[in-house]
Amino acid sequence: MNDLALNLLFKKIISEREKPEEAECNLWILDENLTPSDIIQGATKSKIPLTLICNRLDLQQQLKTSKVISTFSDFDFSGFEDNSVDRIFYRISKEKTVVHHIVNQAFRALKPGGELAIAGYKNEGAKTYIDKACKLFNGAAVKSKGGQSSHLAVISKGSTTHGKLLDDKNYAHPRSINAQSNDRSISFISKPGQFGWNKADRGSELLIQHLPGVINKRHTPVETMLDLGCGYGYLSLMAASLEGLDMLDLQQITATDNNAAAILSCEENLKASGKNYNVIADNCAHGIRGRFDLVLCNPPFHQGFAVDNDLTRMFLEQAHKRLHAKGDAVFVVNQFIPLERKAQDLFGKITLLAESDGFKVIQCKR
Ligand SMILES: C[S@@+](CC[C@H](N)C(=O)[O-])C[C@H]1O[C@@H](n2cnc3c(N)ncnc32)[C@H](O)[C@@H]1O
Repeated sequence: MNDLALNLLFKKIISEREKPEEAECNLWILDENLTPSDIIQGATKSKIPLTLICNRLDLQQQLKTSKVISTFSDFDFSGFEDNSVDRIFYRISKEKTVVHHIVNQAFRALKPGGELAIAGYKNEGAKTYIDKACKLFNGAAVKSKGGQSSHLAVISKGSTTHGKLLDDKNYAHPRSINAQSNDRSISFISKPGQFGWNKADRGSELLIQHLPGVINKRHTPVETMLDLGCGYGYLSLMAASLEGLDMLDLQQITATDNNAAAILSCEENLKASGKNYNVIADNCAHGIRGRFDLVLCNPPFHQGFAVDNDLTRMFLEQAHKRLHAKGDAVFVVNQFIPLERKAQDLFGKITLLAESDGFKVIQCKR
């Protein structure tokens, strides 16, 4: 396991023994940056009953296949009553609001004397988070260190607590965002816990700048569109708001992502767009049927903490599969990603539309 902070947590999980006298409730909170094989190893070696909560659907599907009990949600703890959980294990996330939300929810849901085991690297702010959680929990804490400044703390919830909850910016609730995009003001609904949640991505902006050129060259109108890896739905919203294009007559938008916060936000945005829409939680559109006139995609290149080149290929394959014979797939990627080469055996025509600010926009036809 490359992640030494996860390794510390992992050792803690597998060293735990079941309390024979009571039915236990133990949770392992999985951030979207974790690698499935590491998690499955930890969960299957654990000797205590564990429920895993994860915000990434593909991870949850893999856990299910390995018969690990898990739920897919945007770290929704509402199913756990106050003071009802025995132990919570958590390797900290990259985003501060996510960490604060999870620490607050752990504090609410744990029984007095229940334990939060929290791990992370110093340069991710682990020591600060541990200090904040200790203050809030007001109970005993056992701290240990691993390699490369990784830290683990096991913090008990005191029976008398009067600490202040951490500022989670009202994590669970979608909110209105105003941002600048392609030199105009836009507003949309979004929430933390997903890629670039409160802004327009520069690469996606570039794709939208070049989309009218693609649509104008068509001989049949775009009626159906697939937004592959939709996030909060920026590409769908911008495409739906394009005006004055004879070959754009959007009747149906399908948007899909594997991230729970993205699905919640995109649903809100497309509801407000007035178009017919479908927002589907899925792993790279594997469960989506039918074909589309237009596929738009700004694919991820990170899965876990590594750059994952196969993800690009997987998104290309799915775009190809879901595209009408005369359809257009438009991708934007970082300039260093060899998308044209990866797409070569799939598509008949691949055109570089633009290169700017470290991104390139590529049109693919069957
Ligand atoms: C670079 S972001 C683009 C987001 C959005 N389309 C935009 O333009 O702002 C890539 C998106 O792909 C999603 N993603 C990552 N892995 C995925 C997978 N296996 N299946 C579906 N979506 C995935 C991420 O959650 C993220 O929302």
